[in-house]
Amino acid sequence: MTTRLDRMPEWQSLNAHARAVADRRIGVMFRDDPGRFGRFSGEAAGIFLDYSKHNIDSATLELLLALARASDVEGWRERQFRGKRINVAEDRAALHTALRSDGDGGRVHAPGPVREEVAEVLGRIGTLAEAIRSGQWRGHTGKPVRTVVNIGIGGSHLGPALVCRALSRHDRDGPEIRFLSNVDSGHFDEITRDLDPEATLFVLASKTFSTQETLANAESARQWLGLRPGRDPGAENHFIAVTGHHERALAFGIVPENIYPLPDWVGGRFSLWSAIGISIAIGIGMEGFRALLRGARAMDEHFLAAPLERNLPVLMAMTGIWCRNFLGTSSLAVVPYTQGLELLPAFLQQMEMESNGKRVTRKGEEVAWETCPVIWGAVGTNGQHTFFQHLHQGVETIPVDFIVVKEGADGQDGTQRKLVANAVAQSAALMAGRDEEIVRQHLSGAGLTVDQIDRQAPHRTYPGNRPSSTIVLERLTPESLGALIALYEHKVFVQGVVWQVCSFDQWGVELGKELAVAVDRLFTGDAAGPEIDGSTRGLVALLGSGVETAS
Ligand code: F6P
Repeated sequence: MTTRLDRMPEWQSLNAHARAVADRRIGVMFRDDPGRFGRFSGEAAGIFLDYSKHNIDSATLELLLALARASDVEGWRERQFRGKRINVAEDRAALHTALRSDGDGGRVHAPGPVREEVAEVLGRIGTLAEAIRSGQWRGHTGKPVRTVVNIGIGGSHLGPALVCRALSRHDRDGPEIRFLSNVDSGHFDEITRDLDPEATLFVLASKTFSTQETLANAESARQWLGLRPGRDPGAENHFIAVTGHHERALAFGIVPENIYPLPDWVGGRFSLWSAIGISIAIGIGMEGFRALLRGARAMDEHFLAAPLERNLPVLMAMTGIWCRNFLGTSSLAVVPYTQGLELLPAFLQQMEMESNGKRVTRKGEEVAWETCPVIWGAVGTNGQHTFFQHLHQGVETIPVDFIVVKEGADGQDGTQRKLVANAVAQSAALMAGRDEEIVRQHLSGAGLTVDQIDRQAPHRTYPGNRPSSTIVLERLTPESLGALIALYEHKVFVQGVVWQVCSFDQWGVELGKELAVAVDRLFTGDAAGPEIDGSTRGLVALLGSGVETAS
């Protein structure tokens, strides 16, 4: 029997604590405590996490961990890794961690049949990646594959795209990997404009094999290749499918040996470790793909074994909950200071917001507390010249995750040092701020008149006390990237447990999908078009024809 979150004594204690400490200055806590950085930071699986720039002290942390314990985070964690059906809304397991368990008897154990299935598919992915990378796999006219285009959207796009982008310098021997996601012929043209159809392989990545965008793009690809619908013999050299719906891929015309399974216990946004990662294995080689899995597994081991007070995903989750539920922040900015991670904010947007952007509990009751904040961000330093103004002087406080890579891709040189210095400086500035008194002194020192100082000082004052976490990777490698992604996965899981929501369904995207089909019928003049409001009807009339016939 789960007690409602807001009725738990641990929740109420945190509320009382927050009222008492909300206004204290993080900078002052640093001045009073020289050991603060060491106490509120930790390292695991090659990832360093500094969470000392949050408005927390030992008492706060104890209360947050008490809430995690009372929410049975440890029990849920055990159930997740053991393959229990924790996706209650869909009555499924959420066993993506099994995809990176190596079956060697470590803590990350997967149930036996799952382990066998994972090993078999990994073997097939390895053979495929090798055949393509070595030039053995040929297009129907005998040309080796020069470009692989992954067609997929959401979880069937963002994970592989993030990893391929991040590790593009890791191994340049393979073919080029491109990603087509949007149902926009302009996007299709951009992706294929300079490609040779005879040397191009498409990976159709779709768990359901019914996603409108992916199927439309797959059809465009077929036409672009000059193939006939159905079982055109040329198709087997140019199409691979990754799906949980074998029969739908067959119906599209994919030969059975080119279809790779995606089990129902892998959610789309957690699927890059599965055959959905085929484009990764082709792009960086199977060794690289296995290293990515190894890195994630190291984080899994840590998540399972470390006591909560040293458990990085738990600490990240609980500082996030502290900001969101007790200090009232409503969004989280993710700012990686390395170009390779430019897709991380978009990837986390799906992972966090599709998982925990929920308004009912696992039992279906409306929540009386905030759940997932809005996740957004962009690569630093670019973000400093766009939205950082708002972070420093906007009305609301927005916590930031700074992600910093110690050694840049090309070694430690001047630009890398500048990049890292900017990240550290921004987190320091957000916390310290600059009060009006100091601003006035500076302006006076610069020779401004009293009148000028009065006018300028308010605009040049920074409130500070804005929290951030800093995550440090030694280098951007398959291992460290695997560990980083797994860190966020487990953070999201812990938050979902505490918020009492089901983190593994995404019913919220269905209504829009249904209506898109219905509205499309209005455009084509289908008289059986749906009952629709005046604005939507007006827009359909403005944007196309057909609405009159449907009215
Ligand atoms: O956007 C909703 C969603 O179902 C995601 O959860 C999923 O990753 C994406 O669509 C793509 O779905 P599929 O892999 O089935 O094409």
